[in-house]
This record gives sequence, C-alpha cells and structure tokens, in this order.
Amino acid sequence: MTEIKQIEEKENGICFFEMKNDNIRVITTNLGCHILSIFTKDRAGQEADILLGFENVEDCEKDGSYMGALVGRVANRIADAKFQLNGETYELAANNGKNHLHGGLHGWNQKLFQYEQLEDGIRFCYVSPDMEEGYPGSVFLKVSYRLKEEGLEMEYEAVSDQDTILNITNHPYFNLSGGQDKIYHHQLRMKADQIACVDENCCANGEFLDVAGTPFDFRDFHEIGERIHEDHEQIRHAGGYDHSYLVSETLDQAVLYDPKSGRKLTVSTTLPCIQVYTANFLAGGCNGKHGKPYENRDGVALEAQFLPNSIHIEKEPRVILRKGEQYHAVTSYRFEVE
Ligand code: GLA
Repeated sequence: MTEIKQIEEKENGICFFEMKNDNIRVITTNLGCHILSIFTKDRAGQEADILLGFENVEDCEKDGSYMGALVGRVANRIADAKFQLNGETYELAANNGKNHLHGGLHGWNQKLFQYEQLEDGIRFCYVSPDMEEGYPGSVFLKVSYRLKEEGLEMEYEAVSDQDTILNITNHPYFNLSGGQDKIYHHQLRMKADQIACVDENCCANGEFLDVAGTPFDFRDFHEIGERIHEDHEQIRHAGGYDHSYLVSETLDQAVLYDPKSGRKLTVSTTLPCIQVYTANFLAGGCNGKHGKPYENRDGVALEAQFLPNSIHIEKEPRVILRKGEQYHAVTSYRFEVE
C-alpha cells in the first residue's frame, strides 16, 4: 500500500512530503524538488537512510553539492558560459570557473514549486520565465515523483514558448551502507562502452573514450575504489569519477551494490547518459543530516541526463527543445536486497 502525505508546511511555503510503502520511505520537498531521504531495508530488515542530504534544505542556496536536487535548466557544464541558438548568443552565469554549471546562480534547485498529490506520488509544477538565468523561452515544467513497489520513478515534462535548451536531472548521492562506510567498496556496473571525456575543469570536451582496458570499465561489476586512484588523465582531471557514461541499453543501465548490507540500486532511464560522480569535492559544504558537512566519497551520485555540454558538442544537440515541443524523460531508481 502506498501512502502519500504532507508532513510539514513552513510559513515561507516550503512543504515536506512523505511517500511510503512496505519497502521504501521517501521524503521530498517543493523547494527545488529535492529528494531529502530514501529509507530502505538491508538484508537483516534494518531500515536506513541511503541518501545524502542537507540538515536544512534552505542551505541549497549557498551550497555547491546539489544533494538530491532537481537540476535545470541545463545540468552539468556549458563551456564558457554561453551558447548560440538560432543565430543568437546567450550569456549565462559563469558559476564554475569560466563555465556555467547546473542551471546557474539560482537554478531550479532553489525554486519553490507548486504541488499536487497524485495517487502514488507528488507532482511539482513551475513556470520558468523567459530569460531566467539567461535562458530563452518560458518553460512550463512538471516533475512527478511516484513511488513504485520497488522504487522511485521521476518523470519530467516540459514545454517552452520559444526554442530553448533543456537538460533536466536529479542529483541524488547514494550511500547504500546508510552512511556507515564510504563508497569505495560499493560495486558498480554500467551498461556503457564509452564515457564523455572532460577537460581539467570537468567540462565535457567533445572527446569520447572507449572504456575497455581503462579504470572506467564498469561493464562488469567493480568496486568503485578499485581503480579510482589510478594514474589516468581522466581520473586526474576530475579527482576521481565525474563522467557521463553513454549508456547503451534502454533498461537497468546502472547498478550499484553494497555487499555488506545487501542493498542493490538499479537505475533505468530514457536518457542517453548517466553521470557517475564519486563526490570528489563534496567536503566543506553545508551541514548534512548528521549535523556536520559530508566528506569526499561519502556518496556516489548517479544522474541521468543528456550529454553534458551537448550544445557545444553534438551536431544536432539533443538538449534543444523547440517551441511547443514536448520534453519528456523518465528515470527510475529501484531498490532491492540481495
Ligand atoms: C555534478 C558535476 C560535478 C559537481 C556536482 C555538484 O555531478 O559533474 O562536477 O559539480 O555535480 O557538486
């Protein structure tokens, strides 16, 4: 039985919701559609929160971690914080060195959404005005989180009244041990033969690497920590893994497994890439749930998205959303115990 309820409403309009069934309990909010907690059981039936999150979600305004956040308009980096569309140049905030990151200074992670309760979840709605953070077009956005028997499904729907660019993701960091250990011994499997290479600013540079024979090969399960310190240019640029995997199949593209607790997470997405980010610069942020900032490698983020920096890389950038066209993407996180 799925139970959806509002658990708190603050004077400033921030609301908190709980969605639960026999297996999973999820806490979310209309502030930036953050997923704040995901409780699942381990092999012994013990419940723990396997998601990293803020002690106080309002801290998202001054934090660069994007823990559990909805990211938009465009996830990841846009080189030189500008792009061209239909012959116009659009200047964006350079909020990550010279590049633009995760929607800008006040991205969708910081916006207050309208909400409606669904039978099996919550739908958040937001109208992003024309030129918000420098992006053209008013975008009408719907984000629906639904609790399924074994997991959480995220659906993104959007339409714009002008041609624009859009690459929406959620940015959940997982720690399947419930915070007992770092993520080095988590095992990862990615159905992907290639990654998008990055430059020394972690910006996708239009080159692609075949994972075979490299520390990026997760076509079979490997511990995250096994090769994370290898002397590979791409590992050096990112200080670990912070790369988009070009996923090759349509289901179960990423699996994360913690042998100790038995918790297994499977990600399926309609999108072409999954960013694997091993929290290489998570330290020093705002307080996390345990009343202190997290450390590097306390979690691993798995973010389904279009190719980062697509507008500068792809011949026909899939991030372009034409006026009146429907944007639709679904990503689901399934939780099991093995
Ligand atoms: C993404 C990026 C990382 C970092 C995090 C947020 O995963 O790829 O480089 O910016 O978001 O801290």
